[in-house]
Amino acid sequence: MGQALPKPGLRPFLPADVPMLAAIFVAAIEGLTGDDYSVAQQEAWTHAAEDEEAFGKKLAGQLTLIATIQNAPVGFASLKGTDHIDMLYVHPSVAGQGVGSMLVDALEKLAGARGAKHLTVDASDTAEAFFKKRGYTAKQRNTVSLNGEWLANTTMQKALAGAGPGVPT
Ligand SMILES: CC(C)(COP(=O)(O)OP(=O)(O)OC[C@H]1O[C@@H](n2cnc3c(N)ncnc32)[C@H](O)[C@@H]1OP(=O)(O)O)[C@@H](O)C(=O)NCCC(=O)NCCS
Repeated sequence: MGQALPKPGLRPFLPADVPMLAAIFVAAIEGLTGDDYSVAQQEAWTHAAEDEEAFGKKLAGQLTLIATIQNAPVGFASLKGTDHIDMLYVHPSVAGQGVGSMLVDALEKLAGARGAKHLTVDASDTAEAFFKKRGYTAKQRNTVSLNGEWLANTTMQKALAGAGPGVPT
């Protein structure tokens, strides 16, 4: 507790990362979402990583970035298409220390460079305050059926600064 992290780095996803990212996905859900979702809901959510091949395919089909500390993955985020943040997961051992912010900063810059005018995310109840702090506003409440459980989330949106033509970022 309270110890400063070595500076995290960022790199693109590689196929060999899949088992580690699946483990981070499960650890983030189990370790960080318990105030907002029941154990049955968490289990339905983590189920998505059990088929590692399908999980890896999803990550490979999106723009996936990995946050590392001393070269070891500690979190990841993905951009679906040009303007939707799909995945954002940080290992509980480094939560609250800026890793999630670094990942979303990078996705916002990449999306802006690809011409996106805004970004959307279906934020979990756990992540809603995180995105609100970053200037995302709630647009719509959703309830999603996952492996026999209903999970709530909120579609949030942020206009990207510098999205206009010729504005440097
Ligand atoms: C949401 C998540 C990615 C945040 O990652 P993180 O590395 O802990 O975030 P950061 O340290 O960059 O936090 C940035 C700010 O958001 C705040 N924040 C982060 N998580 C928060 C939470 N659950 N509740 C309230 N505030 C939160 C931090 O306190 C920090 O505020 P500060 O700038 O005033 O210090 C992480 O909690 C997570 O993996 N959650 C579980 C999976 C999940 O719900 N993913 C989202 C899917 S859409």
